[in-house]
Amino acid sequence: MPEFDQVRPLRWQEGGLELLDQRLLPGREHWIRCTDHKAVAQAIRDMVVRGAPAIGVTAAYGVVLAAMAQPDPEHIEVEQLEGALVLLADARPTAVNLGWALGRMRDCLSEGAQPVARLLREAEAIHDEDLAANRRMGGLGAALLEPGSRVLTHCNTGSLATSGFGTALGVIREAWRQQHITEIYASETRPWLQGARLTAWELGRDGMPVTLVADGATALLMSSGLVDWVIVGADRIAANGDVANKIGTYSLALHARSHGARFMVVAPSSTVDMSLPDGDAIPIEHRDGEELLSIGGQRIAAAGARAWNPVFDVTPARLVDALVTERGVLDQPDSAAMRTLFGDGAGR
Ligand code: MRU
Repeated sequence: MPEFDQVRPLRWQEGGLELLDQRLLPGREHWIRCTDHKAVAQAIRDMVVRGAPAIGVTAAYGVVLAAMAQPDPEHIEVEQLEGALVLLADARPTAVNLGWALGRMRDCLSEGAQPVARLLREAEAIHDEDLAANRRMGGLGAALLEPGSRVLTHCNTGSLATSGFGTALGVIREAWRQQHITEIYASETRPWLQGARLTAWELGRDGMPVTLVADGATALLMSSGLVDWVIVGADRIAANGDVANKIGTYSLALHARSHGARFMVVAPSSTVDMSLPDGDAIPIEHRDGEELLSIGGQRIAAAGARAWNPVFDVTPARLVDALVTERGVLDQPDSAAMRTLFGDGAGR
């Protein structure tokens, strides 16, 4: 594996899917083996694996497992896998990569002989194409950063959240390799702490220094003039360029606009949903309030407190300075520019 890119979140091994359990990081590196699609759907729901592209790839392998379990794996009709496709699609609602990958697997199933081998090849193609897209976006995004740039990122958008290399963190990796970055700030990302637990671990693994900031400290960080670019990923991008990403992203975009930092979104075309006119139509996942009321299974909130726990928000396109995809870069994306790059659909 190349320099500054040592981590992988999943692997297909001896007819099963192995997932690095991201709930346990950074304390323990433990791999979970899934041998049926139900275990895969559960792992996505429970965030053993998370990050928009990574859950798409994971679901694709889940379809392979569902096909392998059919009574006659050499003759499979789409209807036989319908239950598995629905279970996997329903595992998490916001990241469109999940439905996009399942759509590719469904199309592949209706194409001819040796379905299991064909489905496995398609899952591997989705896996490989995501890594290639990330490397390309890394180059395109890094080219926007002047030498000496100080960057702030949110959540975990790295190798752990993708096939490898990462989206926003891929840009940071590449710009770091080019020595164009002097400071990497990561917000801790309450309540699941993807920044503190995962981004800090991944960057440490790859030899890149990181400075953590509390989510509530990011406005001061920017008003102090310490950030040139905020660089984030996305879970779904609507046809007008509105971006759904980890809760807190919208606040970062507002602060960036107020304090003269630029705001970059990095996402593969599998994250673009041209069927939705704008961000209002993007389904926002709400998770169990316990994730907010407790940390590591230990209750921290006062007894009786309830929780409102949306885990994504929508940043309006007008706050996005650059949208980096593997197909190219859009400055200040809008409906017309999105249509030019993606037509009526996205993905392949
Ligand atoms: O809830 P998560 O951890 O799956 O959320 C992940 C994010 O919001 C990432 O920023 C997004 O998936 C883009 S990462 C490639």
